[in-house]
Amino acid sequence: MDLGLSGKVAVVTGGSSGIGLAAARIFLEEGASVAICGRSEDRLSGAERRLGDAHGADRVLAAACDVLEPGRVAAFRDRVAERFGRADILIANAGQARRGGLADLGDDEWRAELDLKFFSVLNPVRAFLKPLEDAAPSAIVCTNALLARRPEPWLAATSAARAGALNLAKTMSRDFAPRGIRVNSILIGLVDSGQWNRRHAGGEGGGKSKQAWFAELARERGIPLGRLGEADEAARVMVFLASPAASYLTGETIEVAGGQGHHV
Ligand SMILES: NC(=O)c1ccc[n+]([C@@H]2O[C@H](COP(=O)([O-])OP(=O)(O)OC[C@H]3O[C@@H](n4cnc5c(N)ncnc54)[C@H](OP(=O)(O)O)[C@@H]3O)[C@@H](O)[C@H]2O)c1
Repeated sequence: MDLGLSGKVAVVTGGSSGIGLAAARIFLEEGASVAICGRSEDRLSGAERRLGDAHGADRVLAAACDVLEPGRVAAFRDRVAERFGRADILIANAGQARRGGLADLGDDEWRAELDLKFFSVLNPVRAFLKPLEDAAPSAIVCTNALLARRPEPWLAATSAARAGALNLAKTMSRDFAPRGIRVNSILIGLVDSGQWNRRHAGGEGGGKSKQAWFAELARERGIPLGRLGEADEAARVMVFLASPAASYLTGETIEVAGGQGHHV
């Protein structure tokens, strides 16, 4: 199936690692150009080099940008306009989880988590709305988590914030549909990515190998497919939702969780 992405420009926040980086690579394979952002210059330049070497440096733009700083996001948008002259797709993917239950998290931690989950979407959407409208039909895909529907007590703030972000994506889908912009979400369960590798390297997993720890996590969390997902498995769904092949989908969610969501 042709996804219809040739010649399009995809903007991927958090495109320097994990799921976002996998999505950037797949967009390039499908003939699109990509603009990625992240905070760490080192991680970004490594990603830019790998993507550019494989697909042509002229089709890759990487910019250091914290999505929580509106001025930096606007500057990123301006660089995308300067380089590519358009933006057809926004993948609002940047972020991470915050561990902690109701008894552990203070007000500042709650506020920081709510800030991250809402403004990591709102700032890029506000900045790129005009280019997306100009390029319509266009698309936004929000990376969300299964936690939005299935909260976990040890991720209390992240779960609540994820539920709010899912609600926000629905509102955006209804608001932006008349402007030709589709908005969909993917709900990730557990996917092997930069953040899980860093957690393993930081000592979580009690000294087990990464494979043994991941197998244990899959058992503990009751993942029917019996393993964590790969970054590519999440990214492929993201790229499909963003593509013209998904032209009649908006306000939808797809769970990429190996069957972990038990609801019908
Ligand atoms: N992997 C999972 O199991 C899982 C489950 C549920 C949801 N998710 C979500 O999936 C998304 C992708 O994460 P991942 O698993 O692929 O982890 P990852 O490999 O750590 O990638 C996260 C990306 O987001 C960037 N980022 C984080 N905060 C940012 C900020 N404030 N501004 C700009 N960039 C920022 C990171 O770069 P810098 O750190 O350099 O900024 C990195 O490029 C995240 O929103 C995460 O919460 C993942």
